[in-house]
Amino acid sequence: MYSWNEMREQLNAFIDNLKFEREPYKLYEPIRYTISQGGKRVRPVLFLMAYNMYKENIEEAFYPAVALETYHNHTLIHDDVMDNADLRRGMPTVRAKWNDTMAILSGDSMLLLAYEFMSHVPAGKLPAMLAAFGEMAKEICEGQQYDIEFETREDVKEEEYIEMIRLKTSVLLATSLKLGAYLAGASEEDQENLYAYGEKMGIAFQLQDDLLDVYADEALFGKKIGGDICCNKKTFLLITAMNLASPEQLREMKEWMAKSEFNAEEKIACFTRIYDELGVKEICQQRIQALFEECDRYMARVAVAQEKKQFLKELACSLLNRNV
Ligand code: IPE
Ligand code: IPE
Ligand code: MG
Ligand code: MG
Ligand code: MG
Repeated sequence: MYSWNEMREQLNAFIDNLKFEREPYKLYEPIRYTISQGGKRVRPVLFLMAYNMYKENIEEAFYPAVALETYHNHTLIHDDVMDNADLRRGMPTVRAKWNDTMAILSGDSMLLLAYEFMSHVPAGKLPAMLAAFGEMAKEICEGQQYDIEFETREDVKEEEYIEMIRLKTSVLLATSLKLGAYLAGASEEDQENLYAYGEKMGIAFQLQDDLLDVYADEALFGKKIGGDICCNKKTFLLITAMNLASPEQLREMKEWMAKSEFNAEEKIACFTRIYDELGVKEICQQRIQALFEECDRYMARVAVAQEKKQFLKELACSLLNRNV
């Protein structure tokens, strides 16, 4: 069995050997730049951990694991165009360092590279892996579309938000776990329970991301604080704040959201103050905690020995407490 750190080190060594050195040089430059930044490598590690619950030798699962990470990085490059984001992992985003055209094209290339990496599995397993991967990728686009549509709506309900983040974020974590188990020969029931576990964990993961977008230390988080506030993202924090706000607080928030030109710092300060006044940070933290407790119910149903679940549980716990 391997821990998160051990897996990440092995994965990074494997990724370092993938050179991405085709021509034209400039097309692959943003890909090398993005992939070599690292990040937490949550999805490939989830994939390998699920695999490792059933099989000891994880090396044969590196290619599909890296496919998931490559796919994730593709979504980030495009997401930063959609969200006008200039900073990621403490470095300029592809759109900021190059431009939107490079972000679109190198991002597309990464999607295709992900499919290529995914094809490195035994032929008998490939159709099911590709079907699950394709379905997940469509769901992520659907989630991203809702995310953008919600920016211009003021009446987004909490259930709509949860479904949006299930699509844009959870399904990738859930599919990573399910496919790792599938490749290792797990029962269908175990695969489904791991999927459900990943789905709950993914929702908590995105809630935490939304929380960090307001409250993190920018130097650690590596993304610009207040990005969601500036874009009028309908995060759990904003939806909860709008539900609890006094008429005066609601008026203030709506006034800021209606402005197309504004001082970002002032807008962020106003929303943060209202969030603090209403205690939405604590409400969000309680929700994250409850989701992680729900996760455990699904993990308990996975039919492997307790010690095989240990690293996955540790990973979930550190994600719950992360500040990156
Ligand atoms: C960022 O994912 C996108 C979200 C779904 C919130 P991560 O927080 O896993 O990003 P990296 O890969 O570690 O940078
Ligand atoms: C990310 O949501 C979802 C996907 C990339 C599919 P965010 O827009 O919140 O992610 P960050 O905060 O930019 O990493
Ligand atoms: Mg974003
Ligand atoms: Mg986004
Ligand atoms: Mg975010």
